[in-house]
Amino acid sequence: MQYRNIVILTGAGISAESGVATFRDNGGLWESHRIEEVATPEAFAADPILVHNFYNMRRAQLPTVQPNDAHKALARLERELNGKCTIITQNVDNLHERAGSESVIHMHGELSKIRCEACKSIHLWEIDCLTETPCPNCEQAALRPHIVWFGEMPFYMDDIYGLLRSCDVFISVGTSGNVYPAAGFVSEVRRLGNAHTVEVNLEPSEGTSLFAECRHGKAGDLLPKLVDEILRLN
Ligand code: OAD
Repeated sequence: MQYRNIVILTGAGISAESGVATFRDNGGLWESHRIEEVATPEAFAADPILVHNFYNMRRAQLPTVQPNDAHKALARLERELNGKCTIITQNVDNLHERAGSESVIHMHGELSKIRCEACKSIHLWEIDCLTETPCPNCEQAALRPHIVWFGEMPFYMDDIYGLLRSCDVFISVGTSGNVYPAAGFVSEVRRLGNAHTVEVNLEPSEGTSLFAECRHGKAGDLLPKLVDEILRLN
């Protein structure tokens, strides 16, 4: 089967082999930090220093980690496919872009950007952000991480549902299937069309039974093989 329009949903598992912590595995971020203390608008209102520190720590890690074979395989797929290949990522790291992927939608935001709550401007950001850091545009001290917190609407949802409607294969990589709306994308794909659906994950996800095909193991091992198979047929 030839694929001309591929949509890939990625989660924390794709960056695990790069040394970026996932959320819900043993040693995951939600074991050492409480979601309600660092990843909600209420948390930021209550303790902005703690929340900035959490994202400053994660942003500071970015230059110390490298894209792995799974990121590189997806970049090759986009480069060599005779068609369209879009990554929808829940990840806030920049490893897809650094591997060479160009068509990447960050539905949960990006560590390498910051947003001003006063003037709404968005800025590329590599350094720590403090509560007193002035906005480069309006100079007010009203910056927040450009991250979607629990209780907030993910970004680009209209574009994403358009992609889910039109794809001919949907591949989910390294996500536990616990967080909506992303966890519901496979059902949307099945409801909206006839696309093939593939799960690539270390272990069966919460939604594993919804996929037509499942490949369980490390993304860094499985994705280069899957990409080879797709490109061979292309
Ligand atoms: P999770 O930590 O919930 O799930 C990561 C998944 O990756 C698990 O199912 C692991 O088994 C799998 N995994 C681990 N290592 C892997 C590897 N080497 N290869 C393949 N799979 C591997 O992370 P997400 O599903 O991405 O949201 O979490 C979704 C959202 O929940 C995140 O975007 C974040 C979090 O709370 C917000 O902060 C809004």
